Amino acid sequence: MNKTLSVSAIQNGTVIDHINSGQAFRIVHLLGLLDKKYKVTIGVNLPSKTMKLKDLIKIENYTLTNEEANDITIFAPNATINVIQNFEVVNKVITSLPASISEVFICPNPVCITHSEPVNTHFNIETQGKQVKLICKFCEKEFDRNQVTVKI
Ligand code: CTP
Ligand code: ZN
Repeated sequence: MNKTLSVSAIQNGTVIDHINSGQAFRIVHLLGLLDKKYKVTIGVNLPSKTMKLKDLIKIENYTLTNEEANDITIFAPNATINVIQNFEVVNKVITSLPASISEVFICPNPVCITHSEPVNTHFNIETQGKQVKLICKFCEKEFDRNQVTVKI
């Protein structure tokens, strides 16, 4: 079969596949992958059978924690997380949307106390149909997932 991968196969690590196109870099920041010095390859706007276009992240020699896997679903509800060992997919991680997320996001409300006091941000997460909403614990305002930025 004449089938080639846009991004080469990895020997060991994690492949986050079927990420909604445009969300790969937010997930890279969410997981802090740039600081951790893992070998990471990122594919964006790749063709997919099930989605119009998808993004994909391959992290070598690292397995995500359950918390990290769940946090990804805030931005990429259809992502599939594959654990690779010796070039084989040995596990497809089952994820669920977390109930809350602390520290990683900046509150988009410019007058929120989190900008002036040394507190950790905390957002409760709710779904409204297919929409994911993040509610700041401090200012109680509600935000769409595309409004929040990741602390880098
Ligand atoms: N993959 C990889 N390196 C490997 C094995 C797999 O990078 N050694 C990648 C594949 O390219 C794919 C993902 O891991 O992006 C999942 O692999 P696989 O389950 O074989 O692919 P599909 O059957 O297409 O996955 P799905 O069930 O998610 O459609
Ligand atoms: Zn706030």
